[in-house]
Amino acid sequence: MNAHPMPSDIDLPPGVRLEACPEPMVRLVVETPLASGHLYLHGAHVAHFQPAGHHQTLFMSARSQWARHKPIRGGIPLCLPWFGANPADPSAPMHGIARLTEWSLVSATANAAGEIVATLAMDSATNPPYPCPHPFKAIFTAVFGTTLTVSLEIENTGADTMPVSEALHTYLTVGDVRQVSIRGLAGCSFFDRLDDARTKTEGEAPITITGETDRVYLDTDADVVVSDPSLGREITVSKRGSASTVVWNPWIAKAAAMPDFGDDEWPGMLCIETANALGNAYQLAPGAKHTITTTLACGKL
Ligand code: BG6
Repeated sequence: MNAHPMPSDIDLPPGVRLEACPEPMVRLVVETPLASGHLYLHGAHVAHFQPAGHHQTLFMSARSQWARHKPIRGGIPLCLPWFGANPADPSAPMHGIARLTEWSLVSATANAAGEIVATLAMDSATNPPYPCPHPFKAIFTAVFGTTLTVSLEIENTGADTMPVSEALHTYLTVGDVRQVSIRGLAGCSFFDRLDDARTKTEGEAPITITGETDRVYLDTDADVVVSDPSLGREITVSKRGSASTVVWNPWIAKAAAMPDFGDDEWPGMLCIETANALGNAYQLAPGAKHTITTTLACGKL
């Protein structure tokens, strides 16, 4: 396979470079006093974020496939313009086309705080990996500082109202998922994919992971705090423009069934996904835009 085109006309600030790694994937590498990070043009995919003085924040599978028409496993895949299976077309790619698309680098700059702000763009009309029933443009921004903030804006460029569901499908690194507790979702309704798709209500106690978990929490804009005693840290996941939070861990059998995920990797990851899914999917009028944003902040326990 040919290497993906390397953008050559973009000025990069100190601490930022472009490289092909692994071939043919092109990534922006950030190494500043505040943090290190990787942002792939394939999928506008943040695959690494480590604030100075902290452990790696994002989980990446050692079995990830690195290919043009495959999603990257780990980091922050972008699910857009649909989350999960496409309700109108089961043959359409799971989680939409954004994570399969080659995005264009628009700019990478340093702001006054020394954070690196990288902006990427895509247009579903240009080389779509799958025909999209509703045309759209999207802009992705990542801010690498002591925290990581990612934003995904969608614009309906078609003539018809467009249904949208979406997620910033964030894979957190944890020391041992069986030791982790999750706060912020007490009292929320959730859709449990693993229990006949029932809708349930979360209790008051922090959530713990004791088996395969695949839940969409609805109508919540709350911060979620993941306490991870094995690594001695907390990660706070905050968000804007999002009414759903997905909590996912594949556990043993599903991990073994996934070709691009190691059989023994499930204890080391937990997805807390900033989303608009199921009943929180929305309709976007022609010409309208919507932005979903999440911030990851690490603290010591
Ligand atoms: C989660 C879904 O968001 O993504 C799960 O809730 C799904 O059902 C998981 O298994 C991973 O999806 P994929 O397409 O990246 O394997």
